[in-house]
Amino acid sequence: MNLIIFGPPGAGKGTQSNNIISNFNLKQVSTGDLLRSEIKNQTDLGKKIESIINNGELVSDDVVNTLIRKIISDSNNFNRLIFDGYPRSISQAYRLEKLLKEFNQKISIVLNLKVDKDVVSKRVNGRVICIKCFRIFNVYLNPPNSKNHKCEKKYLEKRTDDNSKTVLNRYETYVAKSKPILDYYNKKELLLEIDGNQKIVEIYDKIKGILENIRDWHYVCFLYKFLWKNLTSLIYGSYSRYQYPSR
Ligand code: AP5
Ligand code: MG
Repeated sequence: MNLIIFGPPGAGKGTQSNNIISNFNLKQVSTGDLLRSEIKNQTDLGKKIESIINNGELVSDDVVNTLIRKIISDSNNFNRLIFDGYPRSISQAYRLEKLLKEFNQKISIVLNLKVDKDVVSKRVNGRVICIKCFRIFNVYLNPPNSKNHKCEKKYLEKRTDDNSKTVLNRYETYVAKSKPILDYYNKKELLLEIDGNQKIVEIYDKIKGILENIRDWHYVCFLYKFLWKNLTSLIYGSYSRYQYPSR
């Protein structure tokens, strides 16, 4: 299954994706992480996009779509992607659908984490990320400690775009762009809203239940197709032998 995890900055998209990949055989694709790694490595692309990200604006569709194409076209990722922070505009949503079709895949569900604006700023301002194990923590709400984090403290860093001014811009960009995307997936009956204001574990329990149902349903469909294909060829095979016995 491929899924999209959607929501404003600080909704918990990264946190929940981390939880999902540790229980399901899926791979997280965070366009934000991919773009930040270009900046960190000071690639040509990284130098071009640094100020855009630090202003809380969106990087061009062309850049992001190219990164996504690389991932979808990789056969190791077939039907096992969590899109975190993508699509971010309606044109990205159209592009994603085209790309998935080209590689014989589709989206199983879009999980929309709904979070209040005042919750967002507290979460983002307190966020720290381990650059070694990539786990996400929060100095106020979910602090790292010896039980939940094994790496040394020196690996914990703040994101350069996690300051009050940029967070506000990111939130406003989200509000301006999100409605057509949500309408698009709603019409396709793929959208499921989740209250993202709840505790991390409560949200994850819900997501886990939803994904288990989808996984079970995929197994049933696979089994049905397999049996149908094999039974029909078996029946058809015996019927042809009966009609045209070999000499
Ligand atoms: P991106 O990295 O995607 O940032 P974002 O969308 O602003 O989302 P965040 O990563 O800030 O939040 P999150 O929902 O992942 O929350 P998290 O789990 O970390 O994008 C960054 C930038 O890159 C964009 O502004 C844009 O410039 C560019 N970009 C990215 N994708 C693009 C695209 N497709 N097109 C164009 N440009 C693109 O949690 C946040 C904090 O809250 C953590 O501290 C966590 O511990 C805590 N927390 C999480 N859940 C809970 C909870 N339930 N209760 C309490 N605390 C919680
Ligand atoms: Mg994130």
